[in-house]
Amino acid sequence: MCGIICYVGKDKAEPILIEGLKRLEYRGYDSAGLAVQDGDQICCHRAKGKIIELEKKIGDMTIPGNTGIAHTRWATHGEPTEANAHPHSDNDGNVFVIHNGIIENYYSLKKNLKKSGAVFKSETDTEVLAHLIASYFDGDLNKAVRQTMAKVEGTFGMAVIHKQVPDEIVVARRGSPLIIGVSDGGTFAASDVSAMVRYTNKVVHLNDNELATITADDFTISTGQAQTVQRSAETVEWAAEDADLNGFPHFMLKEIYEQPDTIQNAIRGRIDRGEGVPKLGGLSPVWEQLKECRHIVIVACGTSYYAGCEAKYVFEKLTEIDVTVALASEFRYRKLNFAPNTFIIAMSQSGETADTLAAIREARRKGASLLGIVNVVGSSIARETDAGVYNHAGPEIGVASTKIFISQLTVLTLMALLLGRHQNLSLTDGVETIRALEALPDQVKDILSKANDIQAIAEKYHKHGNWLFLGRKYGYPIAMEGALKLKEISYIHAEGYAAGEMKHGPIALINPKMPTVAIIFQDSMYEKMISNIQEIKSRRGPIIAIATEGDEKIRELADDVIYIPKTLDILNPILSVVPCQLLAYYCAQLLGRNIDKPRNLAKSVTVE
Ligand code: F6R
Repeated sequence: MCGIICYVGKDKAEPILIEGLKRLEYRGYDSAGLAVQDGDQICCHRAKGKIIELEKKIGDMTIPGNTGIAHTRWATHGEPTEANAHPHSDNDGNVFVIHNGIIENYYSLKKNLKKSGAVFKSETDTEVLAHLIASYFDGDLNKAVRQTMAKVEGTFGMAVIHKQVPDEIVVARRGSPLIIGVSDGGTFAASDVSAMVRYTNKVVHLNDNELATITADDFTISTGQAQTVQRSAETVEWAAEDADLNGFPHFMLKEIYEQPDTIQNAIRGRIDRGEGVPKLGGLSPVWEQLKECRHIVIVACGTSYYAGCEAKYVFEKLTEIDVTVALASEFRYRKLNFAPNTFIIAMSQSGETADTLAAIREARRKGASLLGIVNVVGSSIARETDAGVYNHAGPEIGVASTKIFISQLTVLTLMALLLGRHQNLSLTDGVETIRALEALPDQVKDILSKANDIQAIAEKYHKHGNWLFLGRKYGYPIAMEGALKLKEISYIHAEGYAAGEMKHGPIALINPKMPTVAIIFQDSMYEKMISNIQEIKSRRGPIIAIATEGDEKIRELADDVIYIPKTLDILNPILSVVPCQLLAYYCAQLLGRNIDKPRNLAKSVTVE
């Protein structure tokens, strides 16, 4: 989705802005632009398509100026054209604005602005911001932005410069993330840390309905009611190299290979081996209430939702807690009725997914207690929940979520184990689970060492246009996640089904051209999965099995087998998703897809 990077400081702004825009590319976008201020001159360039098109436009031109704002746009109002690309300006070209989010009342605002002489040059909702700010401006840019905030409905993260106010950028947020970055060389503002991580890891988060004026060596934050806010910078753990490819052809592959460390980072410092109990400090603010909890609702979207579906089985195994999993985009439209002492867990890599945020706000209104499992420290979901656990997985840049799924499963297992140990789970079971968790990083490495075999399977099947993924119990959410991975990056149609549902419909599709990926573990579901595989075989459907090491029977039935090491039933999902990720990756690579930036997709979905 749209991205923002701004800089005011000692250095020339243009190269810093271009570098920042490139760091934001992973979010998905279809046009880009920047405006750089030098005294009372502002130079603006925009281009449809990738950042390289913007660079071509700028060509050999020197753009002087140490203050600038830049944007990648993901079209919502108006097609992806140069005219609709940000920054947008007022009639006189005094004000330049970039904006993430949606101005919901833009139509009526536009009508009124037109009556007072504003000439609109784009189809965007954003342009009303430029005209409104210009109409309020009396020499104080911060005030004009504040007055504009009072007029607009909807969501925004915005940054504004004005010809008559050199060396100053005003930024504001409501619903769309905006952070300030502080460094010796200047001050930054961005929609996410990765845009400025090369220059600083000291960040200040803006809250909703706050605005800030940033200058080369200072920033001041105030509320929409002009109350000054004191907030100091926090240090984020991310390093510049986290946002580099480090020799991998794609971020997705790099992130798949990071997964042994991802698991390690999720459990480091969080377990007491002797007692078989995790220690999750982030839950302490609500611990007294949480340990009595009997109902949990997990709300999330996409891959995070599938991690929630998996967690349901894990909680059922380890605790007495009843878990419901809800798609965040549907949850808020239901008539919500929570049993006493229900906890909502919002799970999100970015911590900014609009549907998940809206879901927790609705749950809050209904009096539920909120927990977050979030990767991005200080993100909106992290701040709007009562307590929670961070993934500590570093930035996930590939649009397709990989390492976060594994991290979410690990964190949820720790959480279930912690609650289970305060309920009926025995010391022996606690210790056994922790041992098995600690063995996972090496087991994932073992699977990664078989990447060539998985690539060979992808070579065999990547031209097949329809795939089925089947699993039961712990294997079912992996079937859904495996199908999602394949379809989103290779554009191969794939469906993830509960294997027991096959005979209620999907079996009609089985034929020699439709491969089935069967997730089959040596657990209580084994014989039933074997029956499903037989049913597919007898209809001559090709089978790729993801099975447990030592399972010889499956070799006789499946056309291809990818083995995963033996672990506890509840941890099989963590291992079995890795071959699914690699299979999707290699199919997409063989089909020549844009793996890190699949068409139409955005990394952080900040609109509903
Ligand atoms: C799929 C994918 C998406 C996200 C979803 C939620 O690979 O990345 O389905 O999982 O958009 O995003 P977060 O976890 O940031 O809330």
